[in-house]
Amino acid sequence: MTRVHYGADYNPEQWPEETVEEDIALMREAGVTLVTVGVFSWSKLQPEPGVFDFGWLDALLDALHAAGIGVDLGTATASPPAWLAERHPDTLPVTAEGVTLHHGSRQAYNPSSAVFRREVGRMARAIVERYAKHPAVVMWHVHNEYACHVAESFDAESAEAFRAWLRERHGTLDAVNEAWGTAFWSQAVSDWQQVQPPRVMPTLHNPHVALDWKRFNSDAILDLYLLERDIIREYSDAPITTNFMGAFEPLDYWRWADEIDVISNDSYPDPANPRSARDFAFDSDLMRSLGGGAPFLQLEQTPSAVQWRRRNAAKRPGQFRLWSLQTVARGADGICQFQWRQSRAGAETFHSGMVPHAGRDSLIWQEVTQLGADLERLDGVAGSRVDADVAIVWDWQSAWAKRSSIGLTDSDPLATARDWHATAFEAGIQVDFVRPGADLAGYRLVIVPALFALGEDTARWLEEAARAGATVVATARTGVVDEQGHAHLGGYLGPLASAAGVRVTDQFARAVETTSLENAVERPQLLNEIDPSVDRITAAVRTPSAEDTVAIAPHGREGLGGVGIGWLERLVVEDADVLGRFRDADADEWPALTRATRGRGTFWYVATDLDAATRATLLQRLCAEADVSPVLAGLPRGVEAVRRGNHLFLLNHGDETASVAVSSPASLIGSQPTNGRVSIEPRGVVVLDDANER
Ligand code: GLA
Repeated sequence: MTRVHYGADYNPEQWPEETVEEDIALMREAGVTLVTVGVFSWSKLQPEPGVFDFGWLDALLDALHAAGIGVDLGTATASPPAWLAERHPDTLPVTAEGVTLHHGSRQAYNPSSAVFRREVGRMARAIVERYAKHPAVVMWHVHNEYACHVAESFDAESAEAFRAWLRERHGTLDAVNEAWGTAFWSQAVSDWQQVQPPRVMPTLHNPHVALDWKRFNSDAILDLYLLERDIIREYSDAPITTNFMGAFEPLDYWRWADEIDVISNDSYPDPANPRSARDFAFDSDLMRSLGGGAPFLQLEQTPSAVQWRRRNAAKRPGQFRLWSLQTVARGADGICQFQWRQSRAGAETFHSGMVPHAGRDSLIWQEVTQLGADLERLDGVAGSRVDADVAIVWDWQSAWAKRSSIGLTDSDPLATARDWHATAFEAGIQVDFVRPGADLAGYRLVIVPALFALGEDTARWLEEAARAGATVVATARTGVVDEQGHAHLGGYLGPLASAAGVRVTDQFARAVETTSLENAVERPQLLNEIDPSVDRITAAVRTPSAEDTVAIAPHGREGLGGVGIGWLERLVVEDADVLGRFRDADADEWPALTRATRGRGTFWYVATDLDAATRATLLQRLCAEADVSPVLAGLPRGVEAVRRGNHLFLLNHGDETASVAVSSPASLIGSQPTNGRVSIEPRGVVVLDDANER
């Protein structure tokens, strides 16, 4: 990418042909450089089997090219046409309950259907063959938001594909029985036909079947992507993308990222949530990391409200621009919206667009044109990278194991990683995400948040990082099970116990069945309902497990105290220093926080889920030890600072004008410095040449 792109999904098939001319004029006015075309155009491009109509798309691509607007050309396969469902109902997906999902919305397909795959291949090939050499096409957009609506199908064809996948993974039925722990509850299978997807059943499912089912579905859908990707490659060398959805749980984006040229993302945090800036930061950091640090594209977001929440808050004045520039700061080389012109009819009529129903005479259009002008001034940012000294380990496979397991799960198995990211965000510390086994050489601090499932390779990898000089911190519920979801025996942490110098012998869930205070705080009413004047026996019973917090007292000269939430573990300390101990009726003086010296580094373990304040204090300690600093110290409330390449971005998320000391004589974007300070209005942004600020 040679510039920071600006644009949208452009779906002109909804409009009379004359609209295109006006659209292109408006695009030029707004500074649009890139549009995604054709994503949902299957029925218009192929109105009947084998009958193609490309006339309108030819004219559209020619017109866009003449206007200097690049096209990210969709393969049109995201919303299968009515004729496919009519002729081949077996291409429709089936839920776990056996209900068929019908045509009339979008994404109504069964990923393992041979007929669907054949038709996808035909549609994609027809488009790619025709436009591979068209000068407007700068990128290919395969499908759209894979698995967003349908991440699994329980039809007979998918069941057969699941069996084939299991054969490949486990080899024999004996190995399947072993991996699935079928000796329990009489679940052993003696014939491949007895192997079934985890449909609706009388009571608890088998967690290991559920885990393999998730793996299978991620792979099956990846296979669908590869089918189209490989067709494109036969004809074109242009970069290929498919749009991700942040930390979307059903797909292992690490595996997907290996097959994608340019990582792209869709982000729709809720403007009514004060934490939405964290979510944008999180998504951006994850996308940049998925691409190994390369710039990514924000391929979808919205100028204002969406239409799919229960209450669809509009973005506040300036927020569209603020969050867009925040995304650029964290590594995006393009900011695109869904969609260019707000629909006049259909399911997304009230989803905002860059050209709103009111047209140019609207607040949205003012912001749209302002952002276009800003992005033009940031051309020098394109291609540059964001450096981070801190890595957070993020693993879909572990999340699936946790989601599938029964008894230790909570609402979001990735919540602890989100919490640690949020703590770093609030502290102004830049972080990357890494997958197990990644190169950790550049990182001084490695955070391992509740990495539930891990095997020996991952344990060795983390121990080596510590020995090589990193500070590594693992948190409660790390290493509970192996890669197949089987409990580690002899103390949790399993193969990681020697690196940590502790073993986890017992686990105690507290009132809050979650890994984070942010995600759910639900103290049982029970305790409040006890009346000591009548409940003579009950009132004398103490129940620490119904108390949601547990105090941690500092221990020793370097001790660190605070508050744990919802969970605690009993540690047997074998080779580590204890820095904090629980203060608790049943767990008094038990180690809560430990640190072991390993080679040139250290390995910390936290035996509870920390509240936000304690997490912030611990992060500060870890950063001090690892010699990691925030981007800028002493920033006023509400101001985020991000370094990208030669640029320093100052983003004021707050409602008060902020003043920041700077050395630059001039700003690239935003108000100009005077007397060594720059003032940033509420939801305003200042971008400076970072060379002056170091
Ligand atoms: C997704 C889809 C788009 C659109 C938006 C609306 O991101 O990819 O087609 O439906 O949601 O928010």
